[in-house]
Amino acid sequence: MKIVHTVEEMQAIRRTLSGSIGFVPTMGALHNGHIALIKQARNENDIVIVSVFVNPTQFLKGEDLEKYPKKIESDSKICELCKVDYLFMPQTPTMYSNDEVLVKAPNLKSYTLEGERRPGHFDGVLQVVLKLFNLVRPSNAYFGKKDAQQLVLIQQMVRNFFLPITVIACDIVRESDGLALSSRNVYLSEEQRKEALAISKSLRSAAEHIGAKMLDCQTLKIQMQNIMKNLDIEYIAFVNREFQEIDTIILGNSIILIAVKVGSTRLIDNIWI
Ligand code: PAF
Repeated sequence: MKIVHTVEEMQAIRRTLSGSIGFVPTMGALHNGHIALIKQARNENDIVIVSVFVNPTQFLKGEDLEKYPKKIESDSKICELCKVDYLFMPQTPTMYSNDEVLVKAPNLKSYTLEGERRPGHFDGVLQVVLKLFNLVRPSNAYFGKKDAQQLVLIQQMVRNFFLPITVIACDIVRESDGLALSSRNVYLSEEQRKEALAISKSLRSAAEHIGAKMLDCQTLKIQMQNIMKNLDIEYIAFVNREFQEIDTIILGNSIILIAVKVGSTRLIDNIWI
């Protein structure tokens, strides 16, 4: 595995590559969720490129960019074990200049749910993903369904900018007890971790009810609130794949999303129906 530090080096390497290229963009602190994406990329492509870059433009003022976990050594080791070919770890000055052409995320999908709480966050995500796509020029790019809104927006960017890239949506990876993997899970105490299991339980229960033809979102929401009654619920939302709110589940075109706080830790989860 080769570690690449600069944009120029990445561009030079890219010019020498042929065959299919699988790309997994990350902000590092890799966990089993990322590993699943990397493994899938490895199975489906000739060459695998992973990026680790804590992108400053997707953090809002007051969000602690500096505290974002950095685990360069273990990330490199994980990528090496997963047989990654190139690990791109640029620094901010090689990725950004002072006065940039900006990407603007679409209004309707970007300022609800996660975007309502973090206005401008998705502008920064799309900005950096477009840069990374242009540098790596992947055939296939792998993103987790856990960050559903991010995934849907990246799919739209690929369509709107006619990028010749296939975005692969990968299933959420869960612990054996159902908790969705997240780098934030380490902040949970043992007690809080147990309480957090209500999140995936409520999603499973909604899926079962939907299987039994209960498609009314308000009724499903009340049942989910009940299961999560000990948690501080930020939202339970029902949207279609365009992130428009829905009143009735449309099979094959719905996502149920949850954001909660367990203690001071904010967790998100969702299920694609
Ligand atoms: O999901 C992430 O880790 C980041 O938002 C991404 C896509 C790597 C862009 O910085």
